[in-house]
Amino acid sequence: MPGKKDASSSACRWGKRSIRVWEKGDGPDYRSIFFDIQLDTQREGRSCGMCGIVGYIGTRKVVPILIEGLRRLEYRGYDSAGLVYEHGGRLVKYRAAGKLSNLEAEVDENIGVASHTGIGHTRWATHGAPTRDNAHPHSDCTGELVVVHNGIIENYGRLKKELEAKGHRFASQTDTEVLAHLIEEYLDDDLVTAVREALARVEGSYALGVLWAGDPDTLVAARNHSPLVMGVGEDACFIASDVPALLPYTRQVIFLDDRELAVLSRGSYTVMDVDDGAVLDKEVRTIDWNAAMAEKGGFKHFMLKEIYEQPQAILNTVSGRIVPDTGAVELPEIGLDDDAIRSIRRIALVACGTSWHAALVAKYWIEKWAGIPVEVDIASEFRYRRLLLGPDVLTISISQSGETADTLAGIRLAAELGSRVVTICNVVGSTMTREADGVIYTHAGPEIGVASTKAFTSQLAALFLLTLYLGQVRGTMDPATGKALATGLVGVATVIEEELPRMQEQIRVLIEDYYDARDFLFVGRGLNFPIALEGALKLKEISYIHAEGYAAGELKHGPIALIDRDMPVLALVPRDSVYQKTVSNVEEIKARQGRLVLIGTAGDEHLARLTDDVLYLPPVHEELNPLLYTIPAQLLSYEIANRRGCDVDQPRNLAKSVTVE
Ligand code: M6R
Repeated sequence: MPGKKDASSSACRWGKRSIRVWEKGDGPDYRSIFFDIQLDTQREGRSCGMCGIVGYIGTRKVVPILIEGLRRLEYRGYDSAGLVYEHGGRLVKYRAAGKLSNLEAEVDENIGVASHTGIGHTRWATHGAPTRDNAHPHSDCTGELVVVHNGIIENYGRLKKELEAKGHRFASQTDTEVLAHLIEEYLDDDLVTAVREALARVEGSYALGVLWAGDPDTLVAARNHSPLVMGVGEDACFIASDVPALLPYTRQVIFLDDRELAVLSRGSYTVMDVDDGAVLDKEVRTIDWNAAMAEKGGFKHFMLKEIYEQPQAILNTVSGRIVPDTGAVELPEIGLDDDAIRSIRRIALVACGTSWHAALVAKYWIEKWAGIPVEVDIASEFRYRRLLLGPDVLTISISQSGETADTLAGIRLAAELGSRVVTICNVVGSTMTREADGVIYTHAGPEIGVASTKAFTSQLAALFLLTLYLGQVRGTMDPATGKALATGLVGVATVIEEELPRMQEQIRVLIEDYYDARDFLFVGRGLNFPIALEGALKLKEISYIHAEGYAAGELKHGPIALIDRDMPVLALVPRDSVYQKTVSNVEEIKARQGRLVLIGTAGDEHLARLTDDVLYLPPVHEELNPLLYTIPAQLLSYEIANRRGCDVDQPRNLAKSVTVE
C-alpha cells in the first residue's frame, strides 16, 4: 500500500515525537500503539498550513490564469495572497494582505502583461501575522528566485541560523523564505538539482512551486505531505493545490505523491523522485468535474448553491450502487470480499468536524443494522491515544477533502497496526483515497463553501449504503427491509428537493427573531443528536454566534441551567421512536421560559402548541431523518449569517482543507 510507513519511519519523519509500538496480550492479532508526544508544541514553523498554490507555464497570458486559479483556491485560505510572473528575464512580484481582491487591485494595471509563466499563492497563516511581508511568493537574496509553499518547514529555525551565518538576508518571519535561500545556496546553473539538494535538508511538509529568472522556461514543483496536482494541457502545464483551480483549462491531471518533484515547461513535464532523481511514469487521470461546478451559478453564495445541490449529490452517491429490482447494494470499491466482511469484529470511524458528525450518525446505523460494534473518534484524539486495532478491525476515515492532516495520520496509524482501511471521500485522487485499501467516493462535486453541506449529506448517503451492504453480507438485515431502506434513501433526495424552497422561505422569515442572538442551543435524540451537533457547528462557524449541540436527554445534567429568554433552542423532534422522550425535554425547556424553534413531522399539532416557530417536514423513514433534518439546520445557519452580513463562504479564521494538525 503506497504511503504506509512503519512506525519507526514515522518517528523519524517527524523527529519531535517518538513512537513505541508494542505487542499487547489482547489476542494474538492485536498490537497497540502508544505515543510519547515530545515537544510537538514547539514547532519552529511559521507559515501557511492550508494555503493554496497555483502555477502556470504555457502560451497564454499568465496573470489572469493565476488570479482565476487563486480565486478557485481561496477557500483554502484568505489571509493574504501573492503572485509572481516572469517578464523580459525578470521576475515581477505582487503581494497583498487580506483577500484576493486586494491582490487583484494591486496587479490590475498589469493583468494583460505578455508573460506566460508564473506562480501564485493564497495563505492561511498558522504562525506569523498575515501581513504583506509574510505573504508569498518569497524570494532569495537576489530576488531572482521565488517560492510559493503550502506546508510547514519543521527545521526552519536551524536552517535560517545557518543561512544567516552565511550572509543570507531574510525579509519575513516565514519558514518558506528559508526554502528560497536554501535553494539559492545550492544554485549554480541547474535549478532542479538545487531544489533537490535543498529539499534533502528540509524536514516537514510542503507543496511548492519555484521559479528562477535564470531559467524562465522551467517551473519546478514538489510535494511532501501537502496536496499538489499537476494539470496537463496542450502547450501548457499547471500546478495547483486542488483540482478546481485547473478545471477552466484542463481535466487531465497527475496527482503528485510524497517526495516527488515535477519539472514543468511549455507542453512537457518530467516527474522524478526527489531523493534519487529517478524519472517516474505517472498516470494521467481525467477528472469528471467541470468548471461550472465550481461556480456560484446565480446563487449569492457557494454555501447556498451547495445546499440546493444536495438532492443531486445524494442521488449521485447512490447511483449505480443499488440494484433496482432487489434493492441490494453493490460496493465492490470497498475492496473487501464477503469473508472479510463477515470477519469484521469492530469498526473504527475516524474523522474531523462535520465528517465526524456523519460518523456519529453511522454508529447508530451500523450497530443497528449490521450488528458490528462501532467506535467513533475525532481524528486528532484518535492519533494520540492508545489504539487497539488489528486485522479484524475495519478503520473507516470520512473526509470531504481526503487531505485533513489528523484524519490522514489516523488511517496511517491504523494501517500500521494491521487494520484494513476504507475511506469515504469526495475528492478523487486525494491522499486518503490513494492510501486506503478501499474507497467509497461520494459524488457531491466540488464543495467550495468552507461550511460543509452537500459533502455531509452525501457522506450520510454513502454510510447508509455501507450499512445496508454490511447488513446484507452478514445476513443481519432481511432483504425486504434492505430494499425498503434503499428505496427510502432514494426517496429522501426527492423530498429534500421538493421541500427546499419552502423551508428556505419559512426560515428566512423566522430568523428575524433570532439573527441577533448571542447564543443558541441545538438538541436532538438518537439519530438526530449528531444533527444537533452539526447544526450548532454550522451556526457558529459562519455566523459567529456561540452555539452548542446536546443530546436532549443531557439537558437536565447541566445545560438546562443556561435556559432563559436569551438562549434560543432549536429542537429536532421528528415523530420517531424517541419522540415522546424528546417532547418531554422540549416541555422542560418551555417550562423555563426557553424560546423554542421546533422542527418536526407534518401533522404534529402538539408542537404548534409549544411555540409559534415550528417548521414541519414530511415523514420519511425514521432511519433517514438525519439527511432531511440537516437541511433546515443548514438553512437556519445560512440565513442568520447572511442576515448578519457575515462572509458566509469564507468565515474568519477558517480554511476548507485543514492540512496541518
Ligand atoms: O475535508 P474533511 O471532511 O476531512 O474536513 C473536516 C473538517 O475540517 C470540516 O468538516 C469542517 O469541520 C467544516 N468547516 C465544517 O463545516
